[in-house]
Amino acid sequence: MKIGYIVGSFAQDSINRKLAQVIVDQAPEHAELVEIDITVLPLYDRHMDDDFPQVLREFKDQVAAVDGLLLVSPEHNQSFPAPVKNAIDVLTRPPKEGQLAGLKLGIAGASPGRYGSINGQSQLRQFLPPLGVKLMGTPLLAVHVTGETFSDDGTADEQTTTRAMAYIEAFTEFVADHG
Ligand SMILES: Cc1cc2nc3c(=O)[nH]c(=O)nc-3n(C[C@H](O)[C@H](O)[C@H](O)COP(=O)(O)O)c2cc1C
Repeated sequence: MKIGYIVGSFAQDSINRKLAQVIVDQAPEHAELVEIDITVLPLYDRHMDDDFPQVLREFKDQVAAVDGLLLVSPEHNQSFPAPVKNAIDVLTRPPKEGQLAGLKLGIAGASPGRYGSINGQSQLRQFLPPLGVKLMGTPLLAVHVTGETFSDDGTADEQTTTRAMAYIEAFTEFVADHG
C-alpha cells in the first residue's frame, strides 16, 4: 500500500513535519509513505486551465499514484493555511479532471495551541466530504505541542508516538476497507 503525505507547513523547523515523520516511523510494514511536496506549487488561477502547468500536473500525478493521502497541517488563524487550500483547488482542476472524488484522505495536525489544530481540521472536514473525498472520521490526531513533545532529534514523547501509531494503523485499515 502506498500512502502519500502532505506537510501543510513551509517552515524548516515545522512541528507538523516532525509529526509527519513520527507517523512515517510508526507506519505498519506493508505501508510505504512518500511525501508529496506542495511548496513547489504556484498559486492557482483559472487561466492555468487552458495550458495546465507541468508542475501542477506532476503534483496531480503523484496524488493519483497513491492509495491514500494524509494531510499533516498546522492551523493558521483558526483555519488551515493557504497553501493547503491552493493544493486542494489544484486537485479539482482543470474542469472534468478533478481528483477529489473517491480520494481517501486522513487529516492530522499539530499546534502549540491548546486544541492542537482542531479548528483548522474541522474546516477541512466540513467542505471535503461534499466534494466526494472519503475522509477518515476517527481517530483524530490533533497534537497540542509543548516543550516536551519533540526531542531535538525529532523523536516524540510516548503519548504522541502511541497516538501516531494508532492513527496510521487506522488509516491504512481505512484505505484497505475503502479500496
Ligand atoms: C499566521 C499564523 C496564524 C496562527 N494561528 C494559529 C491558530 O489559530 N491556532 C493555533 O493553534 N496556532 C496558530 N498559530 C501557531 C502555529 O500553530 C505554530 O506557529 C505552529 O508551529 C505552526 O506549525 P508548523 O511549525 O508546522 O509551521 C499560528 C501561526 C501563524 C504563523
